[in-house]
Amino acid sequence: MSEHQPPFQAPVGTHDVLGPQSALWEGMVAHFAEMAYRYGFELCLTPMFEDVGVFNRGIGENSDVAKKEMYVFTDRGDRTYALRPEGTASVVRAFVEHNPTAPWKAWYVTPAFRYERPQAGRYRQHHQLGVEVLGTDDPAIDVEVISLAYRFYQAIGLRQVRLMVNSMGHDECRGAYVALLQRYLSERVNELCDEHQKSWSTNALRVLDCKKQACIETTSRGPMLPDHVCQDCREHYEHVVAGLTSLGIASEANPRLVRGFDYYTRTTFEFVSDALGSAQNAVGGGGRYDKLSEQLGGKPAGGIGFGSGIERLLLAREAEGVTSPLVKRTTDVFVVDTTGEDVATALVDELRSLGYATERAYDSRSMKAQMKVADKSGARWALLIGPQERAANQVTIRDLRSGDFEKSQRVVDRNDLVSALNELAK
Ligand code: HAM
Repeated sequence: MSEHQPPFQAPVGTHDVLGPQSALWEGMVAHFAEMAYRYGFELCLTPMFEDVGVFNRGIGENSDVAKKEMYVFTDRGDRTYALRPEGTASVVRAFVEHNPTAPWKAWYVTPAFRYERPQAGRYRQHHQLGVEVLGTDDPAIDVEVISLAYRFYQAIGLRQVRLMVNSMGHDECRGAYVALLQRYLSERVNELCDEHQKSWSTNALRVLDCKKQACIETTSRGPMLPDHVCQDCREHYEHVVAGLTSLGIASEANPRLVRGFDYYTRTTFEFVSDALGSAQNAVGGGGRYDKLSEQLGGKPAGGIGFGSGIERLLLAREAEGVTSPLVKRTTDVFVVDTTGEDVATALVDELRSLGYATERAYDSRSMKAQMKVADKSGARWALLIGPQERAANQVTIRDLRSGDFEKSQRVVDRNDLVSALNELAK
């Protein structure tokens, strides 16, 4: 006797993507791939899991993501791995390992795993589209990377996206600033939020982007990063902002934009959607990480990139009321074969080879049942072949969008079918 088991469900904080939503995902990735190609990026695929050290060293052991959110596991060979929580560290590890010609421009699409408290726009498995460039410090590449993101958002229909920028400075000027901030915070620990009363000393920069009023008020009276970056970093930042302005891309200076990972240096940026609630409104973010290659054992190589959450982009489109389909995923032709189905097999093969998105029914169903599926498929035309049509070597073409299909349908010779369809498709 088999006991009834409840069916399995996708793990908490994850989701399945099925049609018609999956067509939007396809369109999103196709648009991004096409744009990345136009901007000179090549696709880079890296494993979904890495030695945990890649992330601990890359994003920083004290970052929230490394400390609290990584999926870490030991495999059967006793190696400690982590599922990738983000895309950058893996791509830089691959750069160090393979030493491609610099500047190296790579794009990716990947799931990312973070053990976060699930809510709208925040998942334990989300998906990112992103790019990374390694081997140049030129502010022109910062402009290129940020403009690629901006143009992509425009291309997928987003209009209510704002760009915020900041400079984190380089090792030295940031180090000096952090010391100053720590001194400032050490005298005001009681004024901070509960969490940062405990953790301010391990990562003082985190206090800057804390959303709690206590931290906002305390830090707003304290030293701010942009006033303390060195001349070189300031000039680099000014070049980036001027470059963006010259392309007609408006940016807002946000001195609190320190982002969540330790690898950032100089330029940091984030795109927020005003159509989304303020909690999870970042549709993309990124920045420079000029020391990351060395931190992962490679040669010095400046780098910059960004990642965008596909789920957030789709939520932002929905919130803005954007309905453009991004990619055509509709059926052109539905073959209704009531002869016993051998006609359909050859016909769908031929039409598909000629470029028609073609569907058919299975399981020898009745004409009525097949027509029901044809109507549901959204196809433009049904091709009807019954015993009569087969005997006369003919096909009936029915326009499924016509209100009066009896009137609009026509019978064509099987040999003229393709030219008749081509004519109709014009
Ligand atoms: P991030 O800001 O952590 O940066 O993530 C990039 C984007 O992924 C966010 O702006 C958001 O759209 C989306 N995202 C992040 N976490 C979640 C989540 N739990 N659920 C849904 N969407 C999420 C990075 O990951 C860096 N690797 C970006 C980068 C590339 N920096 C330099 N190069």
